[in-house]
Amino acid sequence: MTDTNPIRIDSATARPILDSRGWPTIEVTLTAGTADATASAPAGASTGEHEAVELRDGGELWSGRGVDHAVRMTQTEVGDLLTSRDWVTLPELDTALTTLDGTENLARIGANTAVAVSIAATRLFAHSAQLPLHAWIAQQSGARPVIPVPHFNVLNGGAHAANDLAFQEFMIAPVGAADIAAAVESGAAVYHALAALIRHRYASTGLGDEGGFAPPLSDPREALDLLVEAIQQAGHRAALDDIAIALDPAANGFSTGPGRYTFSGRELDRETLVAYYRDLVATYPIRSIEDGFAEDDHEGWGLLFQALGDDLELVGDDLYVTDAARIADGARAGLSNAALIKPNQIGTVSRTLAAIATARSNGMQAMASHRSGETLDPFIADLAVGTGIGRIKSGAPARGERVAKYNRLTRLAAADPTLGFGLAPA
Ligand code: PGA
Ligand code: ZN
Repeated sequence: MTDTNPIRIDSATARPILDSRGWPTIEVTLTAGTADATASAPAGASTGEHEAVELRDGGELWSGRGVDHAVRMTQTEVGDLLTSRDWVTLPELDTALTTLDGTENLARIGANTAVAVSIAATRLFAHSAQLPLHAWIAQQSGARPVIPVPHFNVLNGGAHAANDLAFQEFMIAPVGAADIAAAVESGAAVYHALAALIRHRYASTGLGDEGGFAPPLSDPREALDLLVEAIQQAGHRAALDDIAIALDPAANGFSTGPGRYTFSGRELDRETLVAYYRDLVATYPIRSIEDGFAEDDHEGWGLLFQALGDDLELVGDDLYVTDAARIADGARAGLSNAALIKPNQIGTVSRTLAAIATARSNGMQAMASHRSGETLDPFIADLAVGTGIGRIKSGAPARGERVAKYNRLTRLAAADPTLGFGLAPA
């Protein structure tokens, strides 16, 4: 990280706002002189066991999901810390936050409190340096900024939908698009073609938490066939150089014991699940598989990496929880060649940048990601651009909280036509 202009925070306020699922989440505002910056925390549904912990109130109100404690924490202990001194660098501020927390997993002040504060502080540092957020992140990370390829999640299952589809996310990635405008247009065209197909074929389209359709189907192959048909109807090729497919099976959700997985009425062991994925990859233009095995099934991850690691990106989400140390361990053990990046899994922007740097220094790809419970905060778009990682997933090309991120990419590209677009190399 390079040096930055110091910031002097005058006040920290917070409030509960609604997230995209109708649950409360914390929004934080920091002021510094005439500047102010606001940020909010997203929330997962299929959260990893090793993620940093959200602070939730418990009790009856909001089914225990209230964030009044987190709001109070921001305006007392955390606020006192933030306003107590000048902050020269973001890592200095983030480290003070995690030290104040004092636990292994941010359980005391809450990862939701920490991530909202850290993102707001990042915005203040960028403002103080008179740089757009993505440019400041690029300066800190030493990367060449690039507009990433959006991975639109258009069919939902698993913990994000009420259907019987075991795999959580079926995404389309317009890797052949010339720029973000073309990528967004073709992603939306496929989404609309898919809507028409599903309306025609199933009793209901249904909708998952990330804005993708959730029709009553259960077999991943049926979902993939539907996707290929929609891509073709939209006038594209389902291909690794035009519109490719990305999967997040989120295998924690159908793991039924150590090394055992059950879906579509079948029980599979590690070898048969690897063979299943290998068949899918041979049949469909799949460019990545995220969480193909459960988070603690390192043996399964190793087998999958040996079988398919040369052919496509195997992305660790629950496996790594955006933790630099876990990513480094995974690289050493040969578990995967890519890491998913979700700031709220690890609690601060500095730790998030460290996770990305660790992935890249180990030759791994990294993909910025939203959560299934979101707000309009587009931070991950700037994060993806500024770190030049070339990949982002933010749900369907529909629904405000999802398109907030894609629209931010469009705005950044329009403001700076020299920014490249694509799957930049690690
Ligand atoms: P979550 O799911 O935000 O509900 O955890 C997203 C994912 O698994 O990638
Ligand atoms: Zn995932």
